[in-house]
Amino acid sequence: MRPENNQSIRSHRKDEHLSLAEIFYQETKNVDEFKQLSLIRPTLPETRVDQVNLTSSLFNRSLDVPLYINAMSGGSKRSFKINQQLAQLAYEFNIGIASGSASILVKEPEQAESFAILRKENPTGLVMANINPFVPVSDAKHIVHTMQADALQIHVNVVQEIIMPEGDRDFVWLDNLKKLQAELDVPVIIKEVGFGFDKHTLDLLEAEGFETVDLSGSGGTNFAKIENFRRPEHDYNYLDSIGLSTLQSLLNAQDINMTYLASGGVKTPLDALKCLSLGAQAVGISGVLLHQLERHGYDQAKNWLATFIKQLKELTAVFGAQTVTDLPKIQKYYHLELQNYREQLSTD
Ligand code: FNR
Repeated sequence: MRPENNQSIRSHRKDEHLSLAEIFYQETKNVDEFKQLSLIRPTLPETRVDQVNLTSSLFNRSLDVPLYINAMSGGSKRSFKINQQLAQLAYEFNIGIASGSASILVKEPEQAESFAILRKENPTGLVMANINPFVPVSDAKHIVHTMQADALQIHVNVVQEIIMPEGDRDFVWLDNLKKLQAELDVPVIIKEVGFGFDKHTLDLLEAEGFETVDLSGSGGTNFAKIENFRRPEHDYNYLDSIGLSTLQSLLNAQDINMTYLASGGVKTPLDALKCLSLGAQAVGISGVLLHQLERHGYDQAKNWLATFIKQLKELTAVFGAQTVTDLPKIQKYYHLELQNYREQLSTD
């Protein structure tokens, strides 16, 4: 893939990520980390689908169902169009949406439109901006203002950086994260990009006063594969499975006193229901929706999302629940590998 005329390395990287996510989607589509957990269904649920109400609110915005389209796009011509269509979908279904990393917006102001389009197309819904952990407070404020964002995701993506040919080698991030948390006037979300969160980091973030994390675990888009492919040497392929899965990350989050959002590998309404049953406030989807949009077009992506939401409501009734507050009460069965992880975690 070659940069278009005058395209910066940063902007070109964003287009490469979009293309490679689609190429590797084919490989990850059969990975099912969520099969490690079964939800136990009451044979007599005594519920009605038409009485299921999954409305909730997040960062002062209402959601028809607790879903959001997670960070992917912005910062190139191609990603303007993708963000426009994703935001139209978010508006259509009244779910949330996050932009891809908008740090580029400060250095290349001509890219601002590809981020601001989220608010333009989704004027009343939840919009989240996304930055890297080095962005200074003043730039972060500028990004939030330009995007009229309701919240700010800060991605903490150590594994991606180490494999990325042009990636950072400095992972001393906490001080800047604390400044951002203290000085921004929108909620801050500390977010992984598909490698999950360990318990010690969650405890640390809680102790430092952070309020929200996006666990984004493995099982879907795999940035170890994507960045390794971008390296001429392809010499990090042994790190493909270094991530903690979204389910493992959810278990790590069980006792924390922070809001946690779940994403990473969510492909079906049952996956989303499992995340919600483990206490996630909302569930993020990225790669699978991008695939629908890029491979099959807007109408197909819209049908796919409509079906996802309809079936999430149906499953809620099947599992004996009616509202989001009922979902954590669903009984669970942990399969051996996950149960083993759970037990080792409790003795740690
Ligand atoms: C991403 N993701 C991402 N995350 C982030 O915090 N900032 C970013 O700029 C990007 N960029 C990006 C580009 C593309 C093309 C994809 C597919 C993903 C990561 C994303 O938000 C999410 O955490 C992971 O993709 C895991 O979720 P899925 O894809 O398995 O549903």
